[in-house]
Amino acid sequence: MNNKIINFIKKKDKSKIISLTAYSKNIASIIDRHCDLVLVGDSLGSVLYSFSSTKKVTLDMMIEHSKSVRMGVKKSLMVVDMPHNTYRNPKEALSNAKKIISKTKCDAIKLEGGKKVVQIIKTLIKNKIPVMGHLGVLPQSAKNFKFKGKETAERKIILRDSKLLEDAGVFSIVLECVESSLAKEITKSVKVPTIGIGASVHCDGQVLVTDDLIGLNKINARFVKRYSNIEKQINDAALKFKKDVVKSKFPTKKHSY
Ligand code: KIV
Repeated sequence: MNNKIINFIKKKDKSKIISLTAYSKNIASIIDRHCDLVLVGDSLGSVLYSFSSTKKVTLDMMIEHSKSVRMGVKKSLMVVDMPHNTYRNPKEALSNAKKIISKTKCDAIKLEGGKKVVQIIKTLIKNKIPVMGHLGVLPQSAKNFKFKGKETAERKIILRDSKLLEDAGVFSIVLECVESSLAKEITKSVKVPTIGIGASVHCDGQVLVTDDLIGLNKINARFVKRYSNIEKQINDAALKFKKDVVKSKFPTKKHSY
């Protein structure tokens, strides 16, 4: 395990871990100042490409966006999602994870699932590829986006999976839409940091999709808090530009050659 990852794990129980998504350099360079971890999430499929699910996101899309993000991330841990159908067995996962790491120079990859992906995770880690796990709602295979952990049987599986992922060697686990007391129990029982999205304040850190945070992506999920309204600012700027151009107020001599 490299020092960056070791230092990240050490944050558990010391300070809350801050994480946001980025899909391009300019956003990445802003959020990097405040984050411990920048995630190139496959949520880019729905956020940027209006796909109905993340299933259509390809390895090449993740690699191209990650190359852009890499230029903006200087201090945070940079993690890239392995998209759907790129880690169906250990051999496929290793070849694709190596491709992601070598082309994007990211620090780690993230993949979704519990027991089913344990062998895959072990293979990647054996090959020195740091892995972040993802439990709870798993968008790459979810039939619906209902929160997880209401039923006892489901709670047991997610708790068991968190231990399996920890034992397999993940350095952190995203908990997506997991019931609060279960997220608390998992966070207490594993030694690696849990990063919640819709999984309560009890997680070691929080992650949000940046486009949701800044009001660019119109989503009405309970777990989203909008901290800014960038849509309004872009709209106002475009409108002012339009008015200036229509009235020949732009460009002035100052902006001409
Ligand atoms: O794809 C993504 O952005 C994610 C986060 C929501 C955790 O996996």
